[in-house]
Amino acid sequence: MVSIQGISKTFREGLSSRKVQALQRLTLEIASGEVFGFLGPNGAGKSTSIKVLLNLIRPDDGKATILDRDVSDRRVRRQVGYLPENPYFYDYLNADELLWFGGRSSGMTADDLRHKTPALLERVGLLEARKRPLRTYSKGMVQRAGLALALIHDPAVVILDEPMSGLDPVGRKMVGDLILDLKHQGKTVFFSSHILNDIERFCDRIGIIAGGRLRLVGELDKVVPAGETLEGLFLRAIADDFGGLPS
Ligand SMILES: Nc1ncnc2c1ncn2[C@@H]1O[C@H](COP(=O)(O)OP(=O)(O)OP(=O)(O)O)[C@@H](O)[C@H]1O
Ligand SMILES: [Mg+2]
Repeated sequence: MVSIQGISKTFREGLSSRKVQALQRLTLEIASGEVFGFLGPNGAGKSTSIKVLLNLIRPDDGKATILDRDVSDRRVRRQVGYLPENPYFYDYLNADELLWFGGRSSGMTADDLRHKTPALLERVGLLEARKRPLRTYSKGMVQRAGLALALIHDPAVVILDEPMSGLDPVGRKMVGDLILDLKHQGKTVFFSSHILNDIERFCDRIGIIAGGRLRLVGELDKVVPAGETLEGLFLRAIADDFGGLPS
């Protein structure tokens, strides 16, 4: 469903020629209908992996496909919903307009949009604020608008880069419920998070990445050894001497 095969990516930092190897031969497969949690410390390579899947970053090496099509294939985009790490929108738009433009560019009809927009905005708690320009929104409200934009075209694959970030407990519960709904609808969800609690609640499988390398991947109830917590496993997995996966 979502496949990353041997992806490597090196960035050059600023004007200096210092190289940062953001991803090193990353390989990851996510099956249809799976909720996959991508964990890793700051700078691990989570957002870079996600941007490769969205064809926003070209890898130096390797191949990424979604629904058996290369991620550069334009047909893929309509089947994918994406919430960026720091959503930024034209802030003179209001939430209704944001979803209108997003939905239309994903091929939705005007009727379909008129029907779906209010329900989705209600779901993310923005129905009352929907006529206000996004520049008047709080950080959490922008995040909710971004989520609605990711979901308006009913994509088969939903990719969320830290969907809980900046949200209060009510907002986090709302995102959690949305993810569980997507799961029940049979959607494939790939999300990154630092919040281990959330990962534990929603994910079928997890992957732990550090220093651009996948340290561990597997079913949540199988990878955490008896007597160990996910936090303990996470801290061990990101340590340099972790022998979880061959590099
Ligand atoms: N455009 C860029 N130019 C230079 N370096 C970059 C660029 N994008 C990412 N990097 C570097 O690549 C590495 C991986 O970054 P990435 O954003 O993928 O991490 P992350 O796991 O998403 O971290 P966080 O949890 O902080 O969001 C970091 O060392 C980062 O500094
Ligand atoms: Mg990130």
